[in-house]
Amino acid sequence: MKYGYFDDQKREYVITQPDTPLPWINYLGCQAYFGIISNTAGGYSFYRDARLRRITRYRYNNAPYDFGGRYVYLRDDASGEFWSPSWQPTRHKLEEYSCRHGMGYTTIGSKYKGIEARTRYFVPLDENLEIWQLTVTNHRAQAAELSVFSVVEFCLWDAQDDSTNFQRNFSIGQVEIEDGVIYHKTEYRERRDHFAYFACSEKIAGYETQREDFLGAYRGWENPAAVERGHESNSVAHGWAPVGSHHVKLSLKPGESRQVVFVLGYQENPREEKFDPPDSQIINKKSAKAVIAKYRVTANADAEFKKLSEYWNELLKLCHVDTPDVHTNRMVNIWNAYQCMATFNMSRSASFYESGIGRGLGFRDSNQDLLGFVHMVPERARERILDLAATQLPSGGAYHQYQPLTKRGNNDVGSGFNDDPHWLIIGVGAYIKETGDWGILGEAVPYDNEPGSEMPLYEHLQRSFRYTLERLGPHGLPLIGRADWNDCLNLNCFSDTPGQSFQTTTNKDGKVAESVFIAGLFLVAGRELADIARHRGLGKEACSYLCEVGKMEKTIREHGWDGEWFLRAYDDFSRKIGSKENAEGKIFIETQGFCTLAGVGLEDGLAARALDSTRKMLATKHGIVLQQPAYSKYYLEYGEISSYPPGYKENAGIFCHNNPWVMIGETRVGNGDQAHDYYTRINPSAREEISDVHRCEPYVYAQMIAGRDAATHGEAKNSWLTGTAAWNYYAITQWILGIRTSFDGLLIAPVIPKNWAGFKVSRKFRGATYQIEVQRAGDGNQVSLEVNGAPVQGNLVPLPAAGTKTVSVKATLR
Ligand code: GLC
Ligand code: GLC
Repeated sequence: MKYGYFDDQKREYVITQPDTPLPWINYLGCQAYFGIISNTAGGYSFYRDARLRRITRYRYNNAPYDFGGRYVYLRDDASGEFWSPSWQPTRHKLEEYSCRHGMGYTTIGSKYKGIEARTRYFVPLDENLEIWQLTVTNHRAQAAELSVFSVVEFCLWDAQDDSTNFQRNFSIGQVEIEDGVIYHKTEYRERRDHFAYFACSEKIAGYETQREDFLGAYRGWENPAAVERGHESNSVAHGWAPVGSHHVKLSLKPGESRQVVFVLGYQENPREEKFDPPDSQIINKKSAKAVIAKYRVTANADAEFKKLSEYWNELLKLCHVDTPDVHTNRMVNIWNAYQCMATFNMSRSASFYESGIGRGLGFRDSNQDLLGFVHMVPERARERILDLAATQLPSGGAYHQYQPLTKRGNNDVGSGFNDDPHWLIIGVGAYIKETGDWGILGEAVPYDNEPGSEMPLYEHLQRSFRYTLERLGPHGLPLIGRADWNDCLNLNCFSDTPGQSFQTTTNKDGKVAESVFIAGLFLVAGRELADIARHRGLGKEACSYLCEVGKMEKTIREHGWDGEWFLRAYDDFSRKIGSKENAEGKIFIETQGFCTLAGVGLEDGLAARALDSTRKMLATKHGIVLQQPAYSKYYLEYGEISSYPPGYKENAGIFCHNNPWVMIGETRVGNGDQAHDYYTRINPSAREEISDVHRCEPYVYAQMIAGRDAATHGEAKNSWLTGTAAWNYYAITQWILGIRTSFDGLLIAPVIPKNWAGFKVSRKFRGATYQIEVQRAGDGNQVSLEVNGAPVQGNLVPLPAAGTKTVSVKATLR
């Protein structure tokens, strides 16, 4: 069953009924001002940091869910009837309804008793504000006397404090109202230099800024007293809950349309110019007023919307594929790239599942997110890399996450996740391959943001590599620390106390438990670093890295192989995890994926056997589960992984993030059919038909799909913010389609399904546009190349002469 359809021409997903199984959201903003918006206008906005600069309120895990939003009410002043054109909050049965989620905007339109209302929400580029363009059309045979009411509820900035510290917060809310603009200025009089504003293009008939005056005591958002009675009381909030609501009257002749623009924005003032007049307590509104004046004009809003569309046109042109599979095309060309932008911007902070409070930007996550983002806005990837590296600790380890506003590592989940440092090498490698910007390695970057500790970025990579070598366990495998990629495999935790964090509680000294996964990761990162060293003319150093990589590979083969698949780890008693010897958790996906993608056992068949075992034991029609059998009870020595009911999350859920590792592994053994088949199983567009089972948005990946042990096998959760976005993008574009960036040029190494006759790709790379055409002339993956009409040995398209605009590549597969 479907709840809408893809409009690929417009790059939109069109939702045709408001009561989707879960709120299906979109993101507004792609630079500094952001919001999430659902298909019924739920959601919230923030500036840079979803926790520390929350602009509007949202109630997570509320009933009904998805509450708090960018709401508009329409009221028929003749009858007194009112409704929400976005369905929520009044939930009237609308005669027509559609929500179009597009690239950086959402348009929600509906019709009720002959009145059509359509609101386009977007954040203009380079502005810290959002625009709601509401168009109301009267399709009745008679004139209509209507009232429009807008409303947002302001958050008192720090979202965590806002939802807990009521003894203070009920007394601090403050607003100003001037020229019909509502200014939210809580805490502005003392230490904040920023405020929010909510403006309207029309002359208003009234306003409300105190929530209880808008709603009425004991009423909810579905029947606000002000809307019911048809006028507002011009309330001024003092404490309690400041809101912004405008009342606009519209008289529409039959067939007439009118547009009303609302602008919700965020503004900072220089500290010395906060007040106007300077010795007053009144906000200096000069800069805000200029912006508001601009966007009150509909044509300016339209022009900005056009710029936003062009921006996305350009971004999505950078890599465009034309394959025989519509789902591949749609995801690569539109939605997967778009989701990579969201994960780059948000890391795991703000979605319908991530509250914006709990997590800042993750070190591991943000580095991996670069794999799917770096080709889009490399300058921002560069900045992110330097920010991340600056939170690295002198040991080479890393804070697990940092707050984007302060760019400081936060200790909420501490450090000591022993895989973390390697992702920096992989992120930097991806950036240099894409851009050829070797200069980044010379950038002076501090450790732990400590002034005076600056070292070239390259040094950070060296320390990352050494970090593992200094932390090897009894088998010569890397010690796992608090956890590796799998945050929930906590082998040093041993927690039996309710509420303790599995990630920060450590009851063991950590000198025994080892991770075969980190060993596989070490191979990939180590080779990357060796390549980088070689390119910098450091041949000897490169050799020493490769020597360590070689040793580690040998160790994996000796102590990380279980007979038919790769082991997962050794626990604190040096017992195997992910072995046929275990009663539960005999085989894990992570090591089958990462060791095969790292090429372990390609020559002698170990890789193929590990992938066979994966197919037999882990693959389901909804994707590949994390491990089998699921843990049916709590294992003190394994930690959080065994805290989840079987089939969910890390306990044998389908963790979509690591499915692509297996896809890449399959390409390494040359099995394009299997690789693409796995790709399709979790491809959200390919799952659209079963939206009633999948339940999450059909246009973006979710972190998890419930595994075969779950009661709800096939049901997705935690959509949008997941490493799944970058890894799937990377797997399909660089390994299955095989258009792969390298330090020396673009590699053409497709491993596609046998029944594909070929495909085309247009890819911008290092300043030139590559027009690539791949054709099958046989069943295999052997490539012969023609570049600009001339045959080229091997499968590397060498870098063209400077200034070259286009490169034409023809590849034949045999
Ligand atoms: C979440 C985390 C990620 C981790 C994964 C597996 O997606 O964001 O860092 O690797 O879970 O535990
Ligand atoms: C990962 C896991 C999640 C766990 C969290 C702890 O994101 O997916 O289950 O609770 O890590 O940080």
